[in-house]
Amino acid sequence: MCAGRSTILKSMSDQQFWNERYADSDYFYGTEPNSFLEEQCGVLNGPVLSISEGEGRNGVFLATRGLDVTGVDLSSVALEKAEKLAESKGVTITTIVADLETFEPEESHYGSIISISAHLPGSLRAVLYPRLEKALKPGGILLLEAYSPDQLSKGTGGPKDADMLMSVEKIRKEFPDLEPVLLRETEREVREGKGHTGLASVVQFIGRRPGAK
Ligand SMILES: C[S@@+](CC[C@H](N)C(=O)[O-])C[C@H]1O[C@@H](n2cnc3c(N)ncnc32)[C@H](O)[C@@H]1O
Repeated sequence: MCAGRSTILKSMSDQQFWNERYADSDYFYGTEPNSFLEEQCGVLNGPVLSISEGEGRNGVFLATRGLDVTGVDLSSVALEKAEKLAESKGVTITTIVADLETFEPEESHYGSIISISAHLPGSLRAVLYPRLEKALKPGGILLLEAYSPDQLSKGTGGPKDADMLMSVEKIRKEFPDLEPVLLRETEREVREGKGHTGLASVVQFIGRRPGAK
């Protein structure tokens, strides 16, 4: 009982935090897609699930490439902006306001899942990532980019809590059922609105659920 209540209260305050961050009419992380996603999007198939979709820049980009996209986020404000962005580009995406802690994607349904700057506590990842692995169709692809611990000293964006940052070791451990197609830690320039603003340390992962497509 108590654990359930504290989970709800945590989510409500996280939701308030993100709704406030997105309250301005401009797009906090810009309207252009994440550049790792843009470079690698040829490996993705639909339907696509985008976790922590935010204001829509990534899901809308994939929709303009003809993919069927569902974006999930805790912030209703973000997803309203995502729908407006989609409309402005002449596409549609499906949006779901949900806490990823309790979100249960349909099993063996998605051709791809994307996770761009979806920095989540380890305790949440422990329940979510096994569900993501199962939500992929056999042969399906998970594409992830997140800040790594070296980002803590950079001050160019991302959470200050090391538990929420990702590394090659964490990816290997937390996605045991995906075959790595690409897995690396690297430094790159990230310029995404006013939220991500310069040289950054990131981990990039493309993993494939075994089995035929
Ligand atoms: C750094 S933003 C990245 C947004 C988007 N992926 C992008 O690249 O522009 C992180 C997003 O995670 C969402 N988020 C944080 N915790 C969440 C949770 N527990 N469930 C669902 N979404 C969450 C926030 O609302 C926010 O939109």
